[in-house]
Amino acid sequence: MGRVLDTRVHGAEESVALIAPLHQIRRAMIALGLTVIALSCTALAEEETAATQEFVPPDYALFEQGRYVFKQHCAVCHGERGDGQGDMAPDLVIKPRNFRLGLFKYRSTPWGKLPTTDDLLRTVKGGRTGTAMGIFNFLPEKDLRAVVEYVKFFSRKWRHAENHAPPVTIPPEPAWLASAGDRATHADAGNQVFQTICASCHGADGSGNGPVAAGLRDIWDNPSQPADLRGHLRSGDAPSDIYRVLMTGLNGTPMVSFAHAFTPEQKWDLVAYVLSLRGTAPEEKKP
Ligand code: HEC
Ligand code: HEC
Repeated sequence: MGRVLDTRVHGAEESVALIAPLHQIRRAMIALGLTVIALSCTALAEEETAATQEFVPPDYALFEQGRYVFKQHCAVCHGERGDGQGDMAPDLVIKPRNFRLGLFKYRSTPWGKLPTTDDLLRTVKGGRTGTAMGIFNFLPEKDLRAVVEYVKFFSRKWRHAENHAPPVTIPPEPAWLASAGDRATHADAGNQVFQTICASCHGADGSGNGPVAAGLRDIWDNPSQPADLRGHLRSGDAPSDIYRVLMTGLNGTPMVSFAHAFTPEQKWDLVAYVLSLRGTAPEEKKP
């Protein structure tokens, strides 16, 4: 009884393109000569057609617990339907995620794929500093696990094996990262690449105010501000966190994956450059 769910509430009905502002990114990329990446953006923009099928959650007790936790702690921002339209949403500059498109920024998995359960837990336990996404590590582990499973019910993407993938491989940090002198040499090399590829969005100084920054939007149709790389990074501040973002990209945003654009050496050079920007902002970054 009551086990068959109405997909009008819990399934996503929106059809999906991976990144909404594809034309913008393509234009920026082609301007930069990155035709290969530009074309792969196009290939990823598949439409997911809405199907109306009834869905039975495999573990109904967990589902119910997750629903309860979500209503208590998450719906005020993410909305009861998971559409990102909670009561607080209009007041927030960085909007709460709409979970119905099944696109997630914070992942260890390749571009276009769903996050792992651990990725979701990391976001919910640790929050995302600089956004309204708070720290929920005060919740019992069981509630945390239930609520992240519940988040998966908002999009049917989770039910298809092809949308899942194991985390990308991040090579061990190179030994030179520990030596200030070597690190500066590699940062210089990274700077060359940065000015060619990244500065159009992130700005020559990494402040996030590059020439194309103002017009960028994300797939949820919100303005997309390139990150200010001079301060705390929402994806994490460790060298491997920066490397990971270059590998995975942030789904739904103009920050695409550069996994195939650079060699591992070039990626570590870019990491060294991004690390060298830290603290170069004239005044402390506002939270
Ligand atoms: C006060 C508002 C607020 C509350 C409450 C809140 N969130 Fe969020 N959440 C946000 C915002 C804003 C973002 C977008 C952060 C970003 O884009 O960097 C977000 C992002 C997320 C993400 C990351 C999505 C991605 O793209 O990777 C997950 C997962 C998430 N929230 C889950 C939850 C869960 C589960 C709860 C309840 C336990 C919750 N949130 C409560 C505001 C909130
Ligand atoms: C087409 C524009 C664009 C280009 C080109 C681009 N980025 Fe980004 N980048 C963004 C945007 C927009 C975000 C923020 C996305 C969000 O959080 O919604 C971002 C986020 C990031 C982040 C995560 C910051 C955080 O706070 O977690 C890093 C690191 C990063 N970019 C580095 C780079 C590097 C290095 C390059 C060059 C190889 C690059 N980006 C090229 C637009 C771009």
